[in-house]
Amino acid sequence: MTDMPPLRSRAWFDNPDNIDMTALYIERYLNFGLSQEELQSGKPIIGIAQTGSDLSPCNRHHLVLAERLREGIREAGGIVLEFPVHPIQETGKRPTAGLDRNLAYLGLVEVLYGYPLDGVVLTIGCDKTTPAMLMGAATVNIPAIALSVGPMLNGWHKGERTGSGTIVWKARQMLAAGEIDNKEFIRLVSSSAPSTGYCNTMGTATTMNSLAEALGMQLPGSAAIPAPYRDRQEIAYRTGLRIVDMVREDLKPSDILTRDAFHNAIKVNSAIGGSTNAPIHLAAIARHIGVDLPIEDWQEQGHKVPLLVNLQPAGEYLGEDYYRAGGVPAVVRELMGAGLIAEDALTVNGKSIGDNCRDAVIEDEKVIRPFGQPLKEEAGFIVLKGNLFDAAVMKTSVIGPEFRERYLSNPNDPEAFEGPAVVFDGPEDYHHRIDDPALGITPETLMFMRGAGPIGYPGAAEVVNMRPPAYLITEGVHALPCIGDGRQSGTSGSPSILNASPEAAAGGGLALLRTGDRVRIDLGKGRADVLLSDEELAARRQELEAAGGYQYPASQTPWQAIQRSVVGQMSTGAILEGTEAFQQIAQT
Ligand code: FES
Ligand code: MG
Repeated sequence: MTDMPPLRSRAWFDNPDNIDMTALYIERYLNFGLSQEELQSGKPIIGIAQTGSDLSPCNRHHLVLAERLREGIREAGGIVLEFPVHPIQETGKRPTAGLDRNLAYLGLVEVLYGYPLDGVVLTIGCDKTTPAMLMGAATVNIPAIALSVGPMLNGWHKGERTGSGTIVWKARQMLAAGEIDNKEFIRLVSSSAPSTGYCNTMGTATTMNSLAEALGMQLPGSAAIPAPYRDRQEIAYRTGLRIVDMVREDLKPSDILTRDAFHNAIKVNSAIGGSTNAPIHLAAIARHIGVDLPIEDWQEQGHKVPLLVNLQPAGEYLGEDYYRAGGVPAVVRELMGAGLIAEDALTVNGKSIGDNCRDAVIEDEKVIRPFGQPLKEEAGFIVLKGNLFDAAVMKTSVIGPEFRERYLSNPNDPEAFEGPAVVFDGPEDYHHRIDDPALGITPETLMFMRGAGPIGYPGAAEVVNMRPPAYLITEGVHALPCIGDGRQSGTSGSPSILNASPEAAAGGGLALLRTGDRVRIDLGKGRADVLLSDEELAARRQELEAAGGYQYPASQTPWQAIQRSVVGQMSTGAILEGTEAFQQIAQT
């Protein structure tokens, strides 16, 4: 350890040029028992950005882990100031937790910039908490390390693994088909949540926590440890020890979150079968740290990478199995063997990802497959565009045999399909009408959801993956192609075309689509087009504009109105446009 940089907290607690303010700052931080010696000792002051609370059950275990974090920080010679973060509970927040990612980000930036903190531990877990915390750390760019809360233990029902979210999609179909009643529905769904922690499937939480490690922002091997395991407490302690040294070394997010690191994360996302929310969140983090990460990088960097991790929804297993099989280091090691990882990318422990993962081994090849025996080849996302939108993503790893058979079995055109559109305007419209026979939905129908993007449905709803009407499910049709300007839960196994940008509410082509139009999807060419002439589309646009544009529901809260007025589209991270100009404000 050499040349420790001046601590920014000195400007508050030890500033001889402004003894007046220093006295004011010091007196109030003494009032719960900190001493003046501590505050003026030159010890790094470490924030714990606490995302756990009773309102955010997925992250609530961080309240317990914070004790071990504190012990680590103290032992390494730091002082702890823990503070609350705006809760973002994926399943509890109306209208959607997606609305709050940028709000928690703003709150974190204000705290990190405006208070005497030299470094911070970001407590991550439930879906949006992870990107919100990494975005904030990227903007302020003070030494930061992430600590995952860890997934729940595996869920079980009648001897079978029941995974978060994934069981909900299945149970909904069983309920719709009359196979179970309401009571059994709740029992089946609840069986997937046997302990503290976040979703135990490869949903957005496991995805983003894995990617936080792949980006280099968590200690190696830490992302996958289940919340209740003793190893989770131990890694909290080690994370506390490490952040103090990171301050001494002045190791900042900008040293770690490089373009190489993002490309590593994209590859890991393909190998783990990660969520379609990842491109939105990685784009947001990249923009706040000043890295260029266009949506096309997802296909270029990620599409050819095979699926190695056998977790629901794409596979069979759950979080405990993932950890026991080796977690992120084992996956990275397999990708390294194929030359797919930028091995020099630096991580929070001061070593490169290559050094961290070189000796990792797969402990269970049923759960993490060796590179040469993948669950699926070319398992990454493809990026589509056409006259309906400029960019949308599709998770090809969840295309199952039924879907392939029905839509991708034409030997002359094996990657394309077309059919008539049925269009829904937002989730309420879908819920009201999906079982209405008048819609005439058949197995050839392509279902569209619009009005569900960051503006149309504040924060973008996870609603694009729609189930077919009950009468088709009973006939054995379990999935129709779904396309839309909203998102999809990472726990859904549906091969939908998502995150379409620009959304209908921002003037995207989806606003012009009408039920009955024929639409052609070509996965090979990366195209999605309504089969209408440019003239017809122009006439429809004129008509729409004359009627005042695409209509969507009014805002229900002040933040909804504010975010809607400044939020960007999902292909570029859905950030508050203009805020990326504040990169590295802490240095000024
Ligand atoms: Fe919180 Fe899934 S609902 S992680
Ligand atoms: Mg979700």
